[in-house]
Amino acid sequence: MGRRGRRAAVAAVVVVLSSMVAGGVLAATRSDDESALAPTRQAADQGIERKVDKLLRKMTVDEKLQQVQLLSDGQITDADAKAGVGGVFSLTDPAKIDHFQHIAVEQSRLHIPILFAYDTIHGYRTVFPIPLGAASSFDPSVATADDTIAARETATVGIKQIYSPMVDVSHEPRWGRIAEGGGEDPYLGSVFAAARVKAAQGDDYSAPDKVVTSVKHLAAYGQPEGGREYNTTDMSEQRLRNLYLPPFKAAIDAGSDTAMCSFNAISGVPGCANHETETDILKHEWAFDGFVESDYTAVAELRACPPKNPDEGPCGHGVAADGPDAAQAALNAGTDMEMVSTNIRDFGKQLLAQHRISMARLDDAVRRILRIKFRAGLFDHPYVDQAKATDPASFVTASDRAAARGAAAKSMVLLKNDGGALPLDPAKSTAVIGPLGDDQHDMLGPWWGQGKDEDAVSLLTGIKAQASGAVSFAQGCTIADKEPPNNTPADECGSDAGFDAAVAAAQGADQVVLALGESRGQSGEAASRSEIDLPGLQQELIDRIKATGKPFVVVLFNGRPLTLSKVDAAAPAILEAWFPGIEAGNAVADVLFGKVNPGGKLPVTFPRALGQVPIYYNHEPTGRPCDVNSKYNSRYRDLPSCDPLYPFGYGLSYTTFKVDNLNLDKSSVSRKGTVKVTFDVTNTGARAGDDVAQLYIHDPVASISQPVRRLRGFQRVTLDPGKSTTVSFNLDASDFGFYDNRGRFVVEPGRIDVYAGDSSTADLTKSFVVTG
Ligand code: NOJ
Repeated sequence: MGRRGRRAAVAAVVVVLSSMVAGGVLAATRSDDESALAPTRQAADQGIERKVDKLLRKMTVDEKLQQVQLLSDGQITDADAKAGVGGVFSLTDPAKIDHFQHIAVEQSRLHIPILFAYDTIHGYRTVFPIPLGAASSFDPSVATADDTIAARETATVGIKQIYSPMVDVSHEPRWGRIAEGGGEDPYLGSVFAAARVKAAQGDDYSAPDKVVTSVKHLAAYGQPEGGREYNTTDMSEQRLRNLYLPPFKAAIDAGSDTAMCSFNAISGVPGCANHETETDILKHEWAFDGFVESDYTAVAELRACPPKNPDEGPCGHGVAADGPDAAQAALNAGTDMEMVSTNIRDFGKQLLAQHRISMARLDDAVRRILRIKFRAGLFDHPYVDQAKATDPASFVTASDRAAARGAAAKSMVLLKNDGGALPLDPAKSTAVIGPLGDDQHDMLGPWWGQGKDEDAVSLLTGIKAQASGAVSFAQGCTIADKEPPNNTPADECGSDAGFDAAVAAAQGADQVVLALGESRGQSGEAASRSEIDLPGLQQELIDRIKATGKPFVVVLFNGRPLTLSKVDAAAPAILEAWFPGIEAGNAVADVLFGKVNPGGKLPVTFPRALGQVPIYYNHEPTGRPCDVNSKYNSRYRDLPSCDPLYPFGYGLSYTTFKVDNLNLDKSSVSRKGTVKVTFDVTNTGARAGDDVAQLYIHDPVASISQPVRRLRGFQRVTLDPGKSTTVSFNLDASDFGFYDNRGRFVVEPGRIDVYAGDSSTADLTKSFVVTG
């Protein structure tokens, strides 16, 4: 039963889409380390449902239309609060939050509290590594630590909803927001999404240290054409469901009670007017009973340009003629709350009168919002504990800092380490050189929340704290983090005036740490780049330092995969530190001096050249697989290799590991069965260290071409020298099945290849057969 073709595919079992697929089944079969994917969604609380119904019966149409409105900190007025506005975001002053909440609760007719929200993405005050960095840890406890602290700090000031986790799978390093997500893999992204939701919400997000999460951006926002922010996405059904939706499903299964629809269009249909993703999939298939808020002015952006009324906000997609049309499209597609623009609120009455929206749908949206407010405990505890909210001891505690430091160190990826260049000897004199060498501002990354530059530890400070030898510093050039005017290139390391001083510092030291990368403004929203190499003259700075002959290592702070071919050619050692957060300098020093042995792995592929983008490990095969030695195949004639510079799942250590003894407990399995996979990881070097055991599968013959590899399990292990451990994973239909182009989850009979190792290039392999 080795080969399968179309006929077999027709006979394949079609598993009806349900909450059991790619979430439930999968969760039940994970190893302990991935139990984060187990569903925790609670059954609706009937007491809450009755309260919601009672309130809804009392509400006027105007009050319902206020409830579906979400205003920014700059928009909210006393009058809005009195009228019963539904939500407010980005307001962080606890006194102001309390002020508006008192008006809403005491002066609005029905006393409905406001839901306050904030973009707590990788920390509120205690800033953790960017999510792409956290995903590099391949350890969901890093996300758990981040969201546990972030939820507590956020809730302390009276904010009960966070616009996180951002789970957009992305193959686009040009796109600045790749920094905010879990990288290119749906499975890794799912584990991290679930961990974040569970940590932020806990079992009951009415608790004073918990918040409700909003998983975003529904959907496929991570794949904008050309990597250009907000750009359109054209997507096959199978890709949407196999690559982009799984982390959303994982977040929903973990209990995320709100979601945000995306700016981008998917195959011509914008995220906030998309009935398929918002209603058919999210609300119906996945049984989501929370609410969907739009992204910022995304409802207004449904309108054609120029807008009939420019006061109603921006325009663009051209799927609505005017404001009423946009409100109709958004609400009817499943958007429950409108952020910043006010079309549903302003035109709702008119649309009801014209029967363009129904009262049932408006009631459904309001019911969803009220349900979450009840679950968040806002009716019982609407106000802010001002003493706690203004007490500095509530934020960035010593243990928060320790957690942020551990998370940052776990997130770092050692990309190169020729001749054991790292770790460095702290007793030798060290020159710290580079634009990010004594930087606090950029360490916080693109979503710094309420993080403060002065809370951040620069690399120079961190190195000084651990070095016993002399430490000097030369910046070489500056990284400005300033928005360039008129699309001129950002002025990041634009001058070599400081290079001579940098060379002199290198010559005066035993060893050099070069701190290079991007400004935080070059990552995140609205920060697409058309080149993804080191900005400005940083490569020249490397070359100047190399020419001194002094031993040097490169530390990178950045929010996306960069094209590092030249850096790789020049530098003996490269440590990818991402934007590590407030404990940046301490955590990098921990790794540089060997206190921590780096064990992170890349959650995203690093290309050799920009022209390879999109390049990702779980690509589909082609009829002409790449071969640099012959002509008519899928290759770039100007690149020496078919491969990326650094593949997904790759990362070095100060020790070495061996992966062997791959074993499957059976050679064939029914569609409903489970295959247990075990293999050994051994530390073959002289230091204790972490490795990430990775399990991939490939379906060689299927009705639609399957990715050459798919990650289906991982476990970060810590091993002393000479020690071994056996890791164990279970594979079932949720792993070897896939979605087809009709949106059906299919499990086809035939061979499945299993690969075990510690990167996506793992070559230890065995197979089993799925029987008919
Ligand atoms: C726009 C961003 O796309 C979204 O991620 C964020 O949550 C909202 N602005 C609110 O700040």
